[in-house]
Order: sequence, then C-alpha cells, then structure tokens
Amino acid sequence: MKDLTPPKESLDPIEIASRDEISALQLDRLKWSVAHAYENVPFYRQSFEAAGVHPDDITSLADLARFPFTVKQDLRANYPFGMFAVPREQVKRIHASSGTTGQPTVVGYTENDLQVWGSVVARSLRAAGMRPGDILHNAYGYGLFTGGLGIHLGADYLGLTTVPVSGGMTQRQVRLIEDFGAKGITVTPSYALSILDEYAAQGLDPRESPLEVGIFGAEPWTNAMRLEIEQAFDMHAVDIYGLSEVMGPGVANECVETKDGLHVWEDHFYPEVIDPVTGEVLPDGEVGELVFTSLTKEAFPIIRYRTRDLTRLLPGTARSMRRMEKITGRSDDMIILRGVNVFPTQIEEQLMCVAGLAPHFQIELSRPDRMDVLTVLTEAAPTHAEAAARDAAAKDLAHRVKASVGISITVQVSDPGGVARSQGKAVRIVDNRPKDG
Ligand code: DLL
Repeated sequence: MKDLTPPKESLDPIEIASRDEISALQLDRLKWSVAHAYENVPFYRQSFEAAGVHPDDITSLADLARFPFTVKQDLRANYPFGMFAVPREQVKRIHASSGTTGQPTVVGYTENDLQVWGSVVARSLRAAGMRPGDILHNAYGYGLFTGGLGIHLGADYLGLTTVPVSGGMTQRQVRLIEDFGAKGITVTPSYALSILDEYAAQGLDPRESPLEVGIFGAEPWTNAMRLEIEQAFDMHAVDIYGLSEVMGPGVANECVETKDGLHVWEDHFYPEVIDPVTGEVLPDGEVGELVFTSLTKEAFPIIRYRTRDLTRLLPGTARSMRRMEKITGRSDDMIILRGVNVFPTQIEEQLMCVAGLAPHFQIELSRPDRMDVLTVLTEAAPTHAEAAARDAAAKDLAHRVKASVGISITVQVSDPGGVARSQGKAVRIVDNRPKDG
C-alpha cells in the first residue's frame, strides 16, 4: 500500500493547533451556539428554562454539563421545521432520515452551514489520503440520506474528480472503478464487500484495482473487517463517522497514516461521553454514549444530542483534536441475551477469524421455548463450500463466541451468496421474538 500521508502544509492550521487554542475557540463558539439556540428555537428556550439554565451560565466548557440533553424524540416532536433557528427561506438544503421507523427527522443547512460541511468533509477526505485532482468513486446513497451529497460536497471543496454513482447496480460499480481509475471509494463497509464479491464474479483481481483507499462509515465495522478489506483490495481502509442530526458524514475521520481512531473535528462539533444511565459526563478514556453539541451551525443548532453511539474519547495523535475509538455499536442494537450484553461488532470480530466463512452475516433472534436464541446466519467462503468444512466453520464460530463473549449461539452456514446483501447500511439484526414477551 502506498504512503498517502497528507503534507503538513495542506492541513487546516487548527487541525494541529495547541489544545489551548482549540479550547479557546470552542468556548467562544459554544457561547454563541447555545445563545443562538436559546434565542431562536422555542424548544431550546423551554428546555433550558425547565432545567433552570441560561446561555450566560456558560463560562467554561465544563459548564455545558449543566444543560439538558436533546434526543431524537425532541426532533420528531418538532417535525418538520420546528428546530430551525433561521427563517425557512435561509435554509438552502434539507436532509431527512428515511422515516421507516416512525416520523422522519428533518435537518437543514444555511449557505454557511453547507460551506462548513464541505470543509469538514474535505478535511476528512484529505486525512484519508485524497488529494486535489484525484478521482473519487462515491457509492454512498444520494438523496435525503446525508452520505452521498455530503461526501460530494466535500469532494468538490477539496477539488476531487467525483463519480456520483450512488448505491446499487453492483456490476456497474466495478466497471466504473476500473474504467475511470478511481483512487478512492466512499461506501458503507458492508456494500464494499458486495463490490468485492462482484470482482470475483467478473473474474477480476481486486488487488489489481486502481483503488488506493476506501473511506468507510455510516455503520459499525471492526478492525478485523478493516484487515479483511485492506488485504482483499490491497488498499487502505479508514473510518468516517457522522450523523445527520449533527451534520452528516465528516464529524470525525481517521487519519490514513495512523488508523488509530477517528479525530473529531472539534472546532465545529463538541463531543462529550456520558454514562447512558445517569447522564453524568465521563472522563476521557471511559466508554459511554457519545453526545454532540454543534459549535457553528446556523440553521439547525444541536445542543447535547444523545447519539446512542458507544465509544470513548482519546487524546489526539496525528492531529491535535481528540479521537473517538471505533464505535462498538448503538445502544439500540445492543442485544441482551440471557443477561449478557452483545453487540453485532463482537460477532463480526469473531466471524472474521474463521477462514471457512465469508464476511457476510445477520443475527436472528428467536424464542422457541421461552428462551432467547441467537442465530448467526452466515455463508461458506467459496473455498469451503462442502458440508464437512461448513460444519467445522460453524462449530469454530460458536466456540469463539462462547470463549470471547460468553454466550452460546447457533450458527447457520448457507451456500456462498446466501446472506442478504446490503447496498447501503447493513441490517444486522432480525428480531423474530414474539412482540408481547
Ligand atoms: O450515516 C452519515 C454518514 C454517511 C456517516 C456516510 C459516514 C459516512 P445517519 O444516517 O444519520 O448518518 O446515521 C448516523 O450511523 O449515529 C451511527 O450509529 C452510525 N454511523 C455513522 N458512521 C459510523 C461509523 C450517516 N463510522 C448513525 N461507525 C450514527 C459506526 C457509524 N457507526
């Protein structure tokens, strides 16, 4: 793999500024952002007043801990435009969640917000090793989802040549990567695996592809998956994080030279990690729920938003800004199986160690005899398709999960290609337990 470390002079000065400089900037911006939310969004005025706090109470960054949290339900309750802090005509762009699980959440951006978004995504792509003039194959979905258009904005900002292919039509994905000579690909890690399969189906060697870096996010993935993808494509794989409520992709990104967690672009997004039960702020280094406060957003300021994502904050390395460790999972995706907490990433980590299995999986939960059963639905690697090899692989996975996570699971290994493929975010959990229990 090539060394893609960006030249130091190409970085934004704040990325490598001193901690004191970063904190001073954050405090100024935090005061502005909290006051902006209070003055322009009735929801924040009410929620601050109910908690007995006022924007003037912010005299240090730690004072933010006195302010109330914002949760997804608050955004839903203010559907569609109740959280906007500027007149609707000043909102240049709207994105929204799919709304498949209820009322969609709507977010908005002013002209200035779009500029900021472009700049942080550009910073993320540069951290991943992209340079002005490089070709980017952008396979995140275009539309209301922030992935496709958010990456596109940053790619324009950085001066890349963007191929706005979006998700789907996997055969064409391979063809365009090859014909156009893409250096970078932006896509969910699960869809990257589908593209990898398509290389094999077309008899092409992915290691010979022009790709030098993949920038993967929008869903949890493990370091074991990183190795698998890096080896398969002979390219770097770095992690990009974000959520629409905070901006979209580009809230945090890994640096290609270190790959040691994602630097949070703290000049625009202030992170806290809290105990999800007590709501107390945890010291850096401790695992809990990630909470974000926007520092510069005009149209849709967000104060202490509970992401439900679990991680911990670590000091800066390649950049001065703090890192968040790879997300373990969302608290919503935590399975409690006979009293043990399990995340799909823990299953993924073990699955990657079993040579006879392909890296595709879903977790099915059922309750046949009043006891919860976790079944991993996975498939045989093409080299291990015969029955004896499958049985051995299934046993191996069950054994590894028992040893590392402490739970007994069932494993079903189907033919190669038997597990449903994603073209965006993978659906990892299928819950077939009766609803009343
Ligand atoms: O997924 C934004 C995005 C697009 C990020 C493209 C990266 C690349 P939402 O659809 O609002 O926005 O979903 C946000 O996805 O709270 C996490 O649970 C999850 N997520 C996003 N990035 C990562 C990541 C986009 N790198 C939700 N690792 C977040 C783990 C991630 N989970």
